[in-house]
Amino acid sequence: MKTLKFRNNDTMPILGLGTWKSEKGAVYRAVRDAIEVGYRHIDCAAIYFNEKEIGNALADAFKDGDVKREEMWITSKLWCNSHGNQYVKPALEKTLKDLQLDYLDLYLIHWPVVFKNHVVFPEKADDLICLSEVPISLTWSAMEPCVEEGLTRHIGVSNFSIKKLDKLMKESRIKPEMNQIEMHPFLQQEAMLAYSKKNHIHLTAYSPLGSGDRDSSIKGEDEPILIGHPTIMEIAFNHQCTPAQVLIAWAVKRNTAVIPKSTNKGRIKENFKAQFINLTHEEMKQIAGLNLNFRYIDGSFFALDGGTYTLENLWDE
Ligand code: A2P
Repeated sequence: MKTLKFRNNDTMPILGLGTWKSEKGAVYRAVRDAIEVGYRHIDCAAIYFNEKEIGNALADAFKDGDVKREEMWITSKLWCNSHGNQYVKPALEKTLKDLQLDYLDLYLIHWPVVFKNHVVFPEKADDLICLSEVPISLTWSAMEPCVEEGLTRHIGVSNFSIKKLDKLMKESRIKPEMNQIEMHPFLQQEAMLAYSKKNHIHLTAYSPLGSGDRDSSIKGEDEPILIGHPTIMEIAFNHQCTPAQVLIAWAVKRNTAVIPKSTNKGRIKENFKAQFINLTHEEMKQIAGLNLNFRYIDGSFFALDGGTYTLENLWDE
């Protein structure tokens, strides 16, 4: 399996199982199935509210001898209500407890957005805290000791713009090694790809299939259809594979990690096999022409009336 190499020579399997929107009651089976199929990378987050069940699946997989802890790559993320230096370590410890692990492979700041500690999801401007009050550098200064104490092997960020990532690169002792961002043929992120390559930061593509199972409250009315796009369908036909597999193979070809979510064993298997599909230069060129700079997850749920976050200052675009 193709891997991404980190600064200390640790290797992350390029294809992982996404668990955002994987429901309790289904995610246990999905993780066990994924491990059986060959996945060695699971992407988690505290805010997905399913880490306990994933922890049970991992514990059982280790107990049954399906896989060893050291063969797995487990990522999780710090939620927005635990920024600032006093909340980071307890949040990571809670995630470790839920996942029944001694250490994570990678811990990410989920969003460059800060909530008050008691807020799970913001409803009004007052639930939010300005980045000038609790800066990313402060949160990061609590992430760094987590590496030194062995709670996580690597640290990184998610949903960061080049501007925010660059600032953090300059302010940090331990540099971020990952930025997990939405990335697919409609949001190709070429500038971020170039920046991260130059600065030895890896990228993970989330929502690689367009996250069609999002709640209707965070779905636009006229969203472009990714899986059914004629160019993607045509390339799938050429390879006798499915459109989802083309989207995954595209991410792998660009050397970005990719974390398609599924709780269906057939699709978990199908997605895993996609890493072995080799798209041609001509097909990559065809897909390059599909970019729309379109976000399915545009962060507008943080852009509350009178609040400190706007789509402009979130993405720095
Ligand atoms: P399911 O979990 O029932 O398989 P994303 O990874 O972009 O968030 O997309 C997840 C969505 O894509 C889910 O609705 C998931 O459904 C669906 N999905 C996952 N794998 C495939 C596949 N191979 N073909 C079609 N849909 C898929």
